[in-house]
Amino acid sequence: MRERPVVHAVDGVTFTLPPGEIFGLVGESGCGKTTVGRTVLRLAEPTSGSIRFEGKDITHLKEAELRPIRRQMQIIFQDPHASLNPAMTIGQSIADPLIVHELASEEDARKAALEIMTEVGLSPAEQLYGKYPADLSGGQKQRAVIARAVILRPKFIVADEPVAMLDMSIRARILELMLELKDKYDLTYLFITHDLATAKFICDRIAIMYLGRIVEFGDAKAIFNDPKHPYTQALLAAIPSPDPDARRLKTLPKGEVPDAVNPPKGCRFHPRCPVATPTCGWEPQDMLDLLDQRALDEEVSRRDEAVLGPRSRMQVEEQRLRIRTGGIGIPRKARTGLSLFVVLASFVYALMIPLVGVAVLMAGSFGLLLTDALARWESTRITRAQGGAARARAYLEDVLQGAPQPLANTVTRLAVDGDDVLLEFAPAEDPELRMSAGREVRCVLY
Ligand SMILES: Nc1ncnc2c1ncn2[C@@H]1O[C@H](COP(=O)(O)OP(=O)(O)OP(=O)(O)O)[C@@H](O)[C@H]1O
Ligand code: SF4
Ligand SMILES: [Mg+2]
Repeated sequence: MRERPVVHAVDGVTFTLPPGEIFGLVGESGCGKTTVGRTVLRLAEPTSGSIRFEGKDITHLKEAELRPIRRQMQIIFQDPHASLNPAMTIGQSIADPLIVHELASEEDARKAALEIMTEVGLSPAEQLYGKYPADLSGGQKQRAVIARAVILRPKFIVADEPVAMLDMSIRARILELMLELKDKYDLTYLFITHDLATAKFICDRIAIMYLGRIVEFGDAKAIFNDPKHPYTQALLAAIPSPDPDARRLKTLPKGEVPDAVNPPKGCRFHPRCPVATPTCGWEPQDMLDLLDQRALDEEVSRRDEAVLGPRSRMQVEEQRLRIRTGGIGIPRKARTGLSLFVVLASFVYALMIPLVGVAVLMAGSFGLLLTDALARWESTRITRAQGGAARARAYLEDVLQGAPQPLANTVTRLAVDGDDVLLEFAPAEDPELRMSAGREVRCVLY
């Protein structure tokens, strides 16, 4: 009966590319860059929003209507080897789009392929035309993939990490080739990369993405010179410097990129942000994460569990964390619900056949007692909170003293409710993209 988990791969991303621009999408692995690129090309279906190409809304176009537009929009993938059909020669692969789109005869397609091969540096083209992908180097394969994208004379190309799998020595040459082709054929690029150095080299404007959202967006030079969002600042600080005397390489903020199925509330970067404030979106999950962190120390973990009980007895209820310290057996609410169900069922049966109604009531009551006994027996096998709710509350006060201040300051109420302890958090603020210093930033500090 649980809801199916949904990955929020991309959430509320909006941007416009003027013709001739190189627009960079930058961010750590899994932040949704490829999903944006694929969605723009209608290779992934968006759940909402719209995609416009040259003013035309293409969001809901059928495949047949999309076909002529597809010619104008191409994609270059990260892995050139996987992008090329191993059973086709390089020349055939490059000529193929012209034949598939019925734009040229086989002979003309061959001529066009040879021409573009020379242009992208695959020469002698005649000799390489008949080679298979396995015979070529990584750089040559990526040149072939670029040639195949450009042969249709598109207007727009999504380049998804086009140099990430190439040697450093070849990267710059492939990027230069892409720049040359852009000038020659008036191309517009959506350039996806996790590498800020590459983005700095090639992009006019960039959007920094974190967990499916754009967090900073504007002129590439301005952002590189003066990053505003704490995440952009951390990314830039982590770029290694070639100067051995330069300040030590800083690493990205601690912790994993959170789960895209349940992204953090408020600012999605708040669990990792070094300058987070109490209004950045702290929530009960952050308290559970803090207890997880404490559990890395065996001694602390034992102490926490002795007073607070096991994790299975902590429940997130919106902006509230409920810690059940007593009440072993079936939880009170579930017990009431089940009892009502048994009484109702026996009443309904009793209306039809009284004896069956009595039997249902007896069987239901017995079932309930048995389940409760089993749950109690299960509870005796796990460590139970010792000292009850009052002690757990006092203990949590101490835990919060040692917690990151923004998290502790967001707790508005720490109270005992029967056998439970309640920890309430202030409502999470979700910052919007706002203009600051000539770019858009999603952060409460701006
Ligand atoms: N088909 C899918 N089903 C479920 N989850 C998916 C699917 N495609 C992508 N995701 C998830 O969506 C999120 C974004 O993925 P995406 O590939 O767009 O990231 P990315 O920024 O391109 O990462 P990388 O730099 O590793 O290529 C990830 O959490 C990923 O696991
Ligand atoms: S809103 Fe700004 S300060 Fe707050 S957590 Fe996010 S990035 Fe950090
Ligand atoms: Mg990707």
